[in-house]
Amino acid sequence: MEKPPGTGARGAARLDAGASITYTLRKISQARRGLPFGRRTSRTMDETAAPDSLLLEVHALSKTFRGLHAVDGYSIAVRRGEIRGIIGPNGAGKSTVFNLLTGHIRPSGGRIVFSGQDITRLSPHRIAAMGIGRTFQNIRLFTSMTVLENVLCAQQLHDQDHLLTTMISWPTFRRREDRLRREAREALRLFGLDDRAEILATALSYGDQRRLEIVRALALKPTLLLLDEPTAGMNAHESAVVLALIRRIHDMFGLTIIIVEHNMPLVMELCDRLQVLNYGELIAEGTPGQVRQDPRVVESYLGQADPDA
Ligand SMILES: Nc1ncnc2c1ncn2[C@@H]1O[C@H](COP(=O)(O)OP(=O)(O)OP(=O)(O)O)[C@@H](O)[C@H]1O
Ligand SMILES: [Mg+2]
Repeated sequence: MEKPPGTGARGAARLDAGASITYTLRKISQARRGLPFGRRTSRTMDETAAPDSLLLEVHALSKTFRGLHAVDGYSIAVRRGEIRGIIGPNGAGKSTVFNLLTGHIRPSGGRIVFSGQDITRLSPHRIAAMGIGRTFQNIRLFTSMTVLENVLCAQQLHDQDHLLTTMISWPTFRRREDRLRREAREALRLFGLDDRAEILATALSYGDQRRLEIVRALALKPTLLLLDEPTAGMNAHESAVVLALIRRIHDMFGLTIIIVEHNMPLVMELCDRLQVLNYGELIAEGTPGQVRQDPRVVESYLGQADPDA
C-alpha cells in the first residue's frame, strides 16, 4: 500500500489495522456490485453505466443571497471514478456549491444532472438516496448517540427496504439488523474507530469525529462523495492519514469524489483535476500542475496560502 509522506507511527498502526480488513471489504463490495455498506436500495442509479462515463454535469449554476453572488455561473463535468478538487479563498463559494449539489439550498439558476437525471430541485433526502453523500465543513454528528449508532442511524435512514423487511418477519428483520451492524463495524475498523464504537460520538477527538463523518457519509452508499474540508484543523500527520483513507475508499469502492480543501499539498497530491473559485466565479481549471502555475490563481489564492499547510 502506498504510504503518504509524513505518516507517523500512530497513523501507520491505524492504516495497518484497516489493511487487515481490506481484503474482506473488497470481497463484500465485489459481491454487492462494488458499493460500500452492501447493495444499494435506490431504484434510480444506473449501475450498468460505463466506468468512465459522466456521473455529474453542472451547467451555469448560480446562487444569490440578497444580492451577493455566492456562486456565479459554475459548471463542472465529472467522470465516474475521478477525484476532483475545488479550491479558493474563504467565501469563494465552495461550500455553497456542495449545498447546491446536495439540495440543501435551491439554486437561483442553472442545472444539475447526476447519473443522467436532472436533480436540480430535488430534496436533500432524494439526492442522498440517489447516491450523493457528503460531509460538512462544520461537523454534524448525532451528539447523543454512540459512534456505532451514528453509523447505524445513517444506514437506517437510507435503507428503503426497512419497513417492508420489518413487516415480513422477525427473523428476516434480525438478519438485516445483524448485517447492518456487521457492515458498520467493518467500516469503523477501516477508519480505525472500531475500538471506540460504543462511546459517545462527542467523546471522540476532533480528528476522529471528522473521520466518523466520512464513515457516516459512506453508510448512504454513495457513488459520488463530497468532502468539505475533511482535514480542517488537523495536523500534518492526521491529514496524511485521512489522505490515505480517501485514496483507499476511492480504490476499494470505485467512488467518485469531489473534495474542497485549503490543504494545498493534499489536493495537489490527491486530485486528478482542480477547479479554482474566487468570488463565486470559476477562475481556473486543470491538472494540479496547470493550476499551480496559473497567474490568476497565484494572485488570488496560492500567493496567500501557506504552502506547507
Ligand atoms: N445561507 C447563507 N446566507 C447568506 N449568505 C451565505 C449563506 N451561505 C453562504 N453565504 C455567503 O456566500 C459566500 C460564499 O460562502 P461559502 O461558505 O460557500 O464560501 P467557502 O468558499 O466555502 O468559504 P470557506 O473556505 O471559508 O469555507 C460568502 O460570502 C458567505 O458569507
Ligand atoms: Mg466552506
